[in-house]
Amino acid sequence: MKIRTAAALRALFLLFFIALELCVANGGYLQMIRESGRGFRSGSGGAAKPRGIIFNVKLFGAKPDGRKDNTQAFMRTWVAACNSKDQARVLIPEGIYRIGPVIFQGPCNSPDPIIVQVKGTVKATDDISEYPSPEWVSFEKLDGVILTGGGTFDGQGQAVWQYNDCSSNAYCQLLPTSIKLSSVSNAIIRRIKSINSKSFHIGITNGKNIKVRSVDIVAPEDSPNTDGIHISRSFGVSISKAVIGTGDDCISIGQGSNNVTISKVTCGPGHGISVGSLGKYPDEQDVNGITVKNCTLVNTDNGLRIKTWPGSPPSQASNIVFQDIIMENVSRPIIINQQYCASTSSCTNKEPSNVKISNVFFQNIRGTSASDVAVKINCSSAVPCEGLQLFDINLVPIAPTTDSTTPSAVCSNAKISFGGVQVPEPCTSSR
Ligand SMILES: *[C@@H]1O[C@H](CO)[C@@H](O)[C@H](O)[C@H]1NC(C)=O
Ligand SMILES: *[C@@H]1O[C@H](CO)[C@@H](O)[C@H](O)[C@H]1NC(C)=O
Ligand SMILES: *[C@@H]1O[C@H](CO)[C@@H](O)[C@H](O)[C@H]1NC(C)=O
Ligand SMILES: *[C@@H]1O[C@H](CO)[C@@H](O)[C@H](O)[C@H]1NC(C)=O
Repeated sequence: MKIRTAAALRALFLLFFIALELCVANGGYLQMIRESGRGFRSGSGGAAKPRGIIFNVKLFGAKPDGRKDNTQAFMRTWVAACNSKDQARVLIPEGIYRIGPVIFQGPCNSPDPIIVQVKGTVKATDDISEYPSPEWVSFEKLDGVILTGGGTFDGQGQAVWQYNDCSSNAYCQLLPTSIKLSSVSNAIIRRIKSINSKSFHIGITNGKNIKVRSVDIVAPEDSPNTDGIHISRSFGVSISKAVIGTGDDCISIGQGSNNVTISKVTCGPGHGISVGSLGKYPDEQDVNGITVKNCTLVNTDNGLRIKTWPGSPPSQASNIVFQDIIMENVSRPIIINQQYCASTSSCTNKEPSNVKISNVFFQNIRGTSASDVAVKINCSSAVPCEGLQLFDINLVPIAPTTDSTTPSAVCSNAKISFGGVQVPEPCTSSR
């Protein structure tokens, strides 16, 4: 190991990932892993079974009875896998495993990504005093990890949602995120289900090259802050083929998000796909290069939203593309709100936002609006929006009211160009 230079290791790693990506595209990465021959025990039969050194949580003392606290067994399993010199696979077999907060921390020894294969259900303990920080299953400082297996993370949020006071307190303490990736690069989350998170289901921060595929996320419509996937301070995140129904944002793209692509995601119920909220704290990083395409929103409060807080410090959100989106009974299909207030205490700030929004492109957005106002663009009087384009918009009220005087597109402080089909009629900005 020591003879290999860091550069050689990096090159190997890169090669592996390129190959991995090619194979993932064919749905055959397991095949590829088997054929790579590095670090895998040979075996016969079971065509789709991945090889590798298996670290089964049961062999480290975990009991799938839904009652025993398996936190220590999970931690011991991870430490052993992380120390493995060959490809390691952490296996969580069928059954219900109750665990408190766990940290799967790197860096690890293995040259290949560690696979965490969840076949069973991992269920959170519900005493929040056990959680030293707002994370439940946390992956930290890792280069290369694959979380997969078709299993479920059950956050047991119903036991603690009553303690969430974020609707009245803007600086509330968030409850634990179910699956948190912090300073993780080259990761894949694939075929995982998350239900009833205490707050966010999946959180990605300080990430690089993260792919989320075919995840299924569920929480009740009235559960507080149960965002499906929240991204911040990350470069290169792509989310595809997810089905997300929650009580808050389907996907929220927070400060410092760069090069994020979201495609073939179905959202609802919930608050839609949001860029933001931005500008709540000082020194937030800019948002740049976001693409949302081929998504469907059903019965959500918002469709495509950009939200920034009033009185916010300066930052930017630019180069955002929303394309080929279907709305079904969405209350506010297109909305930019620079006077966003998530809690009663923050609504008293009447200062304009200083988050500059520019180059936002809405193209081929069609379907039904649950309210009369399908397009609402309310930009900042301090830094008006620039370079907004609406092209081929076709949004009709699901049940039109008889009041034909209600404008169905409103906008202020925005420079907007319109093209193609425009239903509703284009708005004229008050400035
Ligand atoms: C953006 O991120 C994706 C991964 O999500 C990556 O494949 C692509 O190369 C990145 N683009 C740029 C310009 O860095
Ligand atoms: C995305 O949506 C467009 C327009 O509806 C459609 O033509 C295209 O085939 C879709 N792409 C994918 C990959 O589903
Ligand atoms: C539209 O959504 C609202 C909730 O926003 C719901 O009450 C209503 O039943 C939905 N209508 C249809 C036709 O789905
Ligand atoms: C739009 O924003 C302005 C502040 O810039 C605010 O006073 C107004 O109430 C907002 N309009 C709507 C319709 O939300």
